[in-house]
Amino acid sequence: MKVYLNGDYLEDRDACISVFDRGFMFGDGVYEVIPVYGGRLFRLSQHLVRLKHSLDAIGLPVPLTDAEITDIFTTLLDGRSADASIYLQITRGAAPRNHSFPEGRKATVLAYAQELVYPDETLRSTGVGAVTLPDQRWHRCDIKSVSLLANVLARQYAAEHDAMEAILTRDGYVTEGAASTMFIVSNGTVVTPPKGHAILPGITRDLILELARADAIACAEIEIQEQELLAADEIWLASSTKEVLPVTRLNGQSVADGRPGDVYRRMKGLYDEFKHQFRSGQGV
Ligand code: PDD
Repeated sequence: MKVYLNGDYLEDRDACISVFDRGFMFGDGVYEVIPVYGGRLFRLSQHLVRLKHSLDAIGLPVPLTDAEITDIFTTLLDGRSADASIYLQITRGAAPRNHSFPEGRKATVLAYAQELVYPDETLRSTGVGAVTLPDQRWHRCDIKSVSLLANVLARQYAAEHDAMEAILTRDGYVTEGAASTMFIVSNGTVVTPPKGHAILPGITRDLILELARADAIACAEIEIQEQELLAADEIWLASSTKEVLPVTRLNGQSVADGRPGDVYRRMKGLYDEFKHQFRSGQGV
Protein backbone atom coordinates (compact mmCIF):
# COMPACT_ATOMS: atom_id res chain seq x y z
CA MET A 1 0.00 0.00 0.00
CA LYS A 2 1.21 3.54 -0.79
CA VAL A 3 1.64 5.83 2.18
CA TYR A 4 2.59 9.47 2.54
CA LEU A 5 5.32 10.04 5.12
CA ASN A 6 6.94 13.43 5.73
CA GLY A 7 6.83 14.61 2.13
CA ASP A 8 7.38 11.28 0.35
CA TYR A 9 5.00 8.77 -1.20
CA LEU A 10 6.34 5.29 -0.47
CA GLU A 11 5.34 1.65 -0.28
CA ASP A 12 4.38 1.02 3.36
CA ARG A 13 7.22 -1.51 3.75
CA ASP A 14 9.72 1.23 2.81
CA ALA A 15 8.24 3.88 5.11
CA CYS A 16 10.25 4.26 8.33
CA ILE A 17 9.94 6.39 11.44
CA SER A 18 12.47 6.78 14.22
CA VAL A 19 12.12 4.49 17.25
CA PHE A 20 12.24 7.79 19.18
CA ASP A 21 9.16 9.17 17.44
CA ARG A 22 7.02 10.67 20.19
CA GLY A 23 3.93 9.10 18.69
CA PHE A 24 5.55 5.71 19.29
CA MET A 25 7.12 6.63 22.66
CA PHE A 26 4.32 8.65 24.29
CA GLY A 27 1.26 8.46 22.04
CA ASP A 28 2.05 12.17 21.54
CA GLY A 29 0.02 12.88 18.43
CA VAL A 30 -3.40 13.22 16.88
CA TYR A 31 -5.26 11.69 13.96
CA GLU A 32 -8.28 11.86 11.67
CA VAL A 33 -10.25 9.28 9.67
CA ILE A 34 -12.05 10.72 6.65
CA PRO A 35 -14.47 8.76 4.47
CA VAL A 36 -14.31 9.08 0.69
CA TYR A 37 -17.40 8.43 -1.42
CA GLY A 38 -17.21 8.35 -5.19
CA GLY A 39 -13.70 9.81 -5.00
CA ARG A 40 -14.89 12.82 -2.96
CA LEU A 41 -13.63 13.55 0.57
CA PHE A 42 -16.70 13.57 2.84
CA ARG A 43 -17.06 16.50 5.26
CA LEU A 44 -13.41 17.40 4.63
CA SER A 45 -13.58 20.93 6.03
CA GLN A 46 -15.16 19.66 9.26
CA HIS A 47 -12.40 17.06 9.64
CA LEU A 48 -9.74 19.72 9.03
CA VAL A 49 -11.32 22.02 11.64
CA ARG A 50 -11.31 19.17 14.17
CA LEU A 51 -7.69 18.32 13.29
CA LYS A 52 -6.70 21.92 13.97
CA HIS A 53 -8.60 21.80 17.28
CA SER A 54 -6.69 18.65 18.30
CA LEU A 55 -3.32 20.12 17.26
CA ASP A 56 -3.99 23.41 19.05
CA ALA A 57 -5.08 21.54 22.17
CA ILE A 58 -1.78 19.64 22.34
CA GLY A 59 0.35 22.67 21.44
CA LEU A 60 1.58 21.22 18.16
CA PRO A 61 1.83 23.83 15.36
CA VAL A 62 -0.14 22.81 12.28
CA PRO A 63 2.65 21.54 9.99
CA LEU A 64 0.76 21.78 6.67
CA THR A 65 -1.88 24.05 5.18
CA ASP A 66 -5.37 22.73 4.43
CA ALA A 67 -4.52 22.92 0.72
CA GLU A 68 -1.36 20.84 1.23
CA ILE A 69 -3.26 18.24 3.25
CA THR A 70 -5.98 18.07 0.62
CA ASP A 71 -3.33 17.64 -2.06
CA ILE A 72 -1.78 14.71 -0.18
CA PHE A 73 -5.18 13.04 0.14
CA THR A 74 -5.93 13.55 -3.56
CA THR A 75 -2.57 12.07 -4.54
CA LEU A 76 -3.14 9.05 -2.27
CA LEU A 77 -6.59 8.47 -3.75
CA ASP A 78 -5.10 8.53 -7.23
CA GLY A 79 -8.47 8.88 -8.93
CA ARG A 80 -10.01 5.81 -7.26
CA SER A 81 -13.78 5.79 -7.33
CA ALA A 82 -14.44 2.94 -4.85
CA ASP A 83 -15.40 4.02 -1.34
CA ALA A 84 -12.32 4.57 0.76
CA SER A 85 -11.12 6.13 3.97
CA ILE A 86 -8.10 8.29 4.60
CA TYR A 87 -6.09 7.93 7.79
CA LEU A 88 -3.97 10.93 8.80
CA GLN A 89 -1.70 10.96 11.84
CA ILE A 90 0.49 13.83 13.04
CA THR A 91 2.90 13.32 15.93
CA ARG A 92 5.35 15.64 17.67
CA GLY A 93 8.21 13.97 15.78
CA ALA A 94 11.37 12.25 16.95
CA ALA A 95 13.51 13.48 19.86
CA PRO A 96 15.48 11.96 22.75
CA ARG A 97 12.97 10.62 25.26
CA ASN A 98 11.90 13.38 27.62
CA HIS A 99 8.28 14.06 28.50
CA SER A 100 8.25 17.83 27.92
CA PHE A 101 8.16 19.17 24.34
CA PRO A 102 11.47 19.06 22.43
CA GLU A 103 12.80 22.27 20.83
CA GLY A 104 12.81 22.71 17.07
CA ARG A 105 11.72 19.21 16.03
CA LYS A 106 9.68 18.46 12.94
CA ALA A 107 6.28 16.82 13.27
CA THR A 108 5.87 13.37 11.73
CA VAL A 109 3.02 13.29 9.20
CA LEU A 110 1.65 9.98 7.97
CA ALA A 111 -1.34 9.44 5.70
CA TYR A 112 -2.75 6.60 3.65
CA ALA A 113 -5.93 5.63 1.85
CA GLN A 114 -7.60 2.27 2.26
CA GLU A 115 -10.79 0.56 1.21
CA LEU A 116 -13.76 1.54 3.36
CA VAL A 117 -15.19 -1.64 4.83
CA TYR A 118 -18.63 -0.99 6.30
CA PRO A 119 -20.70 -3.19 8.54
CA ASP A 120 -22.57 -5.25 5.92
CA GLU A 121 -26.28 -4.91 5.24
CA THR A 122 -27.12 -8.09 7.18
CA LEU A 123 -25.50 -6.63 10.27
CA ARG A 124 -27.40 -3.41 9.68
CA SER A 125 -30.69 -5.26 9.42
CA THR A 126 -30.13 -7.37 12.55
CA GLY A 127 -28.30 -4.70 14.51
CA VAL A 128 -25.21 -5.25 16.63
CA GLY A 129 -24.42 -6.05 20.24
CA ALA A 130 -22.85 -3.61 22.71
CA VAL A 131 -21.74 -3.75 26.32
CA THR A 132 -21.54 -0.96 28.88
CA LEU A 133 -18.22 -0.29 30.60
CA PRO A 134 -16.79 2.40 32.87
CA ASP A 135 -15.07 5.13 30.84
CA GLN A 136 -11.43 4.88 31.90
CA ARG A 137 -10.11 7.47 29.47
CA TRP A 138 -8.61 10.83 30.37
CA HIS A 139 -10.58 14.06 30.66
CA ARG A 140 -9.80 15.51 27.19
CA CYS A 141 -11.69 13.09 24.97
CA ASP A 142 -12.47 16.01 22.62
CA ILE A 143 -8.88 15.70 21.36
CA LYS A 144 -8.55 13.00 18.70
CA SER A 145 -5.40 11.66 20.30
CA VAL A 146 -3.51 8.58 19.14
CA SER A 147 -3.21 7.58 22.84
CA LEU A 148 -6.00 5.02 22.57
CA LEU A 149 -5.09 2.39 25.14
CA ALA A 150 -8.30 2.75 27.17
CA ASN A 151 -10.33 2.59 23.94
CA VAL A 152 -8.39 -0.49 22.82
CA LEU A 153 -9.03 -2.27 26.12
CA ALA A 154 -12.73 -1.37 26.05
CA ARG A 155 -13.11 -2.60 22.47
CA GLN A 156 -11.28 -5.83 23.28
CA TYR A 157 -13.60 -6.41 26.25
CA ALA A 158 -16.55 -5.92 23.88
CA ALA A 159 -15.08 -8.36 21.35
CA GLU A 160 -14.63 -10.97 24.08
CA HIS A 161 -18.28 -10.49 25.10
CA ASP A 162 -19.80 -10.99 21.67
CA ALA A 163 -20.30 -7.27 21.13
CA MET A 164 -19.17 -4.85 18.45
CA GLU A 165 -18.79 -1.84 20.70
CA ALA A 166 -18.34 -0.81 24.32
CA ILE A 167 -20.59 2.07 25.39
CA LEU A 168 -18.73 4.01 28.05
CA THR A 169 -20.20 5.54 31.20
CA ARG A 170 -18.74 8.06 33.61
CA ASP A 171 -20.33 9.09 36.93
CA GLY A 172 -23.63 7.45 35.96
CA TYR A 173 -23.82 9.15 32.54
CA VAL A 174 -23.13 7.77 29.10
CA THR A 175 -20.26 9.38 27.19
CA GLU A 176 -19.74 7.56 23.86
CA GLY A 177 -18.58 4.31 22.29
CA ALA A 178 -14.91 3.26 22.37
CA ALA A 179 -14.70 4.40 18.73
CA SER A 180 -18.12 5.91 18.01
CA THR A 181 -20.68 8.46 19.10
CA MET A 182 -23.74 7.12 20.89
CA PHE A 183 -27.37 8.05 20.32
CA ILE A 184 -30.55 6.85 21.95
CA VAL A 185 -34.15 7.29 20.85
CA SER A 186 -36.51 7.87 23.70
CA ASN A 187 -40.22 8.68 23.18
CA GLY A 188 -39.49 9.61 19.56
CA THR A 189 -36.63 12.02 20.40
CA VAL A 190 -33.10 11.37 19.18
CA VAL A 191 -30.77 12.11 22.08
CA THR A 192 -26.97 12.32 22.18
CA PRO A 193 -24.61 13.67 24.86
CA PRO A 194 -23.53 17.32 24.47
CA LYS A 195 -20.11 18.27 23.17
CA GLY A 196 -17.45 19.01 25.75
CA HIS A 197 -14.30 17.41 27.09
CA ALA A 198 -16.02 14.06 27.73
CA ILE A 199 -16.59 13.08 24.09
CA LEU A 200 -15.04 13.41 20.66
CA PRO A 201 -17.01 15.96 18.61
CA GLY A 202 -18.02 13.39 16.01
CA ILE A 203 -18.42 14.55 12.42
CA THR A 204 -21.02 11.81 11.83
CA ARG A 205 -22.80 12.95 15.01
CA ASP A 206 -23.20 16.45 13.60
CA LEU A 207 -24.43 15.14 10.27
CA ILE A 208 -27.03 12.93 11.94
CA LEU A 209 -28.32 15.90 13.96
CA GLU A 210 -28.36 18.03 10.79
CA LEU A 211 -30.32 15.40 8.87
CA ALA A 212 -32.74 14.82 11.74
CA ARG A 213 -33.47 18.53 12.18
CA ALA A 214 -33.96 19.02 8.45
CA ASP A 215 -36.52 16.19 8.50
CA ALA A 216 -38.33 17.49 11.60
CA ILE A 217 -37.19 14.61 13.82
CA ALA A 218 -37.00 15.82 17.42
CA CYS A 219 -33.40 15.90 18.75
CA ALA A 220 -31.69 16.82 21.96
CA GLU A 221 -28.03 17.20 22.91
CA ILE A 222 -28.30 16.44 26.61
CA GLU A 223 -26.70 14.14 29.18
CA ILE A 224 -27.98 10.54 29.11
CA GLN A 225 -28.11 8.63 32.37
CA GLU A 226 -27.05 5.02 32.26
CA GLN A 227 -30.59 4.08 33.34
CA GLU A 228 -32.00 5.91 30.32
CA LEU A 229 -29.66 3.98 28.05
CA LEU A 230 -30.87 0.69 29.51
CA ALA A 231 -34.52 1.75 29.00
CA ALA A 232 -34.06 3.34 25.53
CA ASP A 233 -36.41 2.50 22.64
CA GLU A 234 -33.44 2.54 20.26
CA ILE A 235 -29.67 2.81 20.54
CA TRP A 236 -27.42 3.81 17.64
CA LEU A 237 -23.69 4.06 17.12
CA ALA A 238 -22.22 6.55 14.67
CA SER A 239 -18.80 7.07 13.16
CA SER A 240 -17.12 7.85 9.86
CA THR A 241 -16.58 4.15 9.16
CA LYS A 242 -19.81 2.75 10.72
CA GLU A 243 -22.05 5.61 9.56
CA VAL A 244 -25.19 4.93 11.63
CA LEU A 245 -25.65 1.48 13.09
CA PRO A 246 -28.39 0.11 15.37
CA VAL A 247 -27.57 -1.64 18.64
CA THR A 248 -30.15 -4.33 19.25
CA ARG A 249 -28.48 -6.14 22.18
CA LEU A 250 -27.06 -4.39 25.20
CA ASN A 251 -25.22 -6.43 27.83
CA GLY A 252 -26.79 -9.56 26.33
CA GLN A 253 -30.39 -8.24 26.61
CA SER A 254 -32.61 -7.13 23.74
CA VAL A 255 -32.98 -3.40 23.16
CA ALA A 256 -36.79 -2.91 22.98
CA ASP A 257 -38.05 -5.73 20.68
CA GLY A 258 -34.51 -6.63 19.62
CA ARG A 259 -34.83 -5.20 16.09
CA PRO A 260 -33.65 -1.94 14.54
CA GLY A 261 -36.26 0.71 15.30
CA ASP A 262 -38.39 2.92 13.05
CA VAL A 263 -36.41 6.08 13.76
CA TYR A 264 -33.19 4.26 12.86
CA ARG A 265 -34.69 3.15 9.55
CA ARG A 266 -35.75 6.70 8.80
CA MET A 267 -32.28 8.05 9.66
CA LYS A 268 -30.57 5.32 7.59
CA GLY A 269 -32.70 6.40 4.60
CA LEU A 270 -31.76 10.05 5.10
CA TYR A 271 -28.09 9.18 5.49
CA ASP A 272 -28.03 7.00 2.40
CA GLU A 273 -29.77 9.68 0.36
CA PHE A 274 -27.28 12.30 1.56
CA LYS A 275 -24.37 10.04 0.59
CA HIS A 276 -25.95 9.33 -2.77
CA GLN A 277 -26.25 13.06 -3.50
CA PHE A 278 -22.69 13.64 -2.30
CA ARG A 279 -21.41 10.93 -4.63
CA SER A 280 -23.14 12.59 -7.51
CA GLY A 281 -21.34 15.87 -6.78
CA GLN A 282 -23.74 17.71 -4.46
CA GLY A 283 -23.18 18.90 -0.89
CA VAL A 284 -20.04 18.74 1.21
N1 PDD B 1 -13.24 6.92 15.43
N2 PDD B 1 -15.80 8.81 19.38
C1 PDD B 1 -14.64 8.16 19.32
C2 PDD B 1 -13.93 7.82 20.59
C3 PDD B 1 -14.10 7.79 18.07
O1 PDD B 1 -12.92 7.15 18.01
C4 PDD B 1 -14.83 8.10 16.88
C5 PDD B 1 -14.34 7.74 15.52
C6 PDD B 1 -16.05 8.79 17.01
C7 PDD B 1 -16.86 9.18 15.80
O2 PDD B 1 -16.28 10.30 15.16
P1 PDD B 1 -16.51 10.54 13.60
O3 PDD B 1 -17.97 10.53 13.38
O4 PDD B 1 -15.92 11.88 13.38
O5 PDD B 1 -15.82 9.44 12.86
C8 PDD B 1 -16.50 9.13 18.26
C9 PDD B 1 -12.58 6.66 14.19
C10 PDD B 1 -13.47 6.31 13.05
C11 PDD B 1 -11.44 5.67 14.43
O6 PDD B 1 -10.82 5.77 15.49
O7 PDD B 1 -11.16 4.83 13.57
